[in-house]
Amino acid sequence: MDQVIERVLLTEVEIQKKVEELGAQISADYEGKDLLVVGILKGALVFMADLIRAIQIPVTIDFMAVSSYGQGATSSGAVRILKDLDRAVEDRHILIVEDIVDTGLTLNYLLDNLRSRGAASVKVCTILDKPNRRTIPIEPDYNGFVIPDEFVVGYGLDYAEKYRHFPYVAILKREVYER
Ligand code: XMP
Ligand code: MG
Repeated sequence: MDQVIERVLLTEVEIQKKVEELGAQISADYEGKDLLVVGILKGALVFMADLIRAIQIPVTIDFMAVSSYGQGATSSGAVRILKDLDRAVEDRHILIVEDIVDTGLTLNYLLDNLRSRGAASVKVCTILDKPNRRTIPIEPDYNGFVIPDEFVVGYGLDYAEKYRHFPYVAILKREVYER
C-alpha cells in the first residue's frame, strides 16, 4: 500500500461494477439520440475512458479543462476555462463527465456555460459525490458513489498533480496535505 494512503475507499472492482451500471443506464436513457460526452480534464480522464466503453450506443467525445483546486486541497472559488470544446454544441445532447462534485461551483459554472451555447440538453455524470460540502444546490443526474467529506485521490483524482494513476479511490493521509 502506498504510504500516503490512509485507506482505500473504493476498490478497482467496485468502481468497474458501478461504471458498467452507469453505462447501461445512460445507454437506455439516450437511445436514438445524438450524444456528446464532454470530459472535464484532468480529473475525469480515467472515469471517462471507462465510461464511454460501458456506453452501448454511438457517442462522440470532447474535452474541457477548467481551473479548480490548483495545487492545494482547498477551493479558490473561481472557475476559469483553460481549454474549450473543439466544436459548437448547438442542438446536441451533452453529458458532462466529472470526477467529483464537491461544493458544486465547477458544475454550476459548466452547466450555465454549456446551456448558454444552445445545447439541446445538458446533464452531468460524476463518479463521486461529496454532498456534505455543497455550497450551491446542484445534483449530478448520474453518480457512482456518495463519499464522506475526506480528501480522496486515485482513479483520476490528484493531490498536487500526483496519485491520479491509482486504480482505486483512497483517502489521503492528512499529514500529506497539512504539513
Ligand atoms: P467543486 O467544489 O467545484 O469541486 O464541486 C470540483 C473539483 O474539485 C476537486 N476536488 C477534489 N479533488 N480530491 C481531489 O483530488 C478530492 O477529494 C476533491 N474534492 C474536490 C476536483 O478537481 C473536482 O473536479
Ligand atoms: Mg484536482
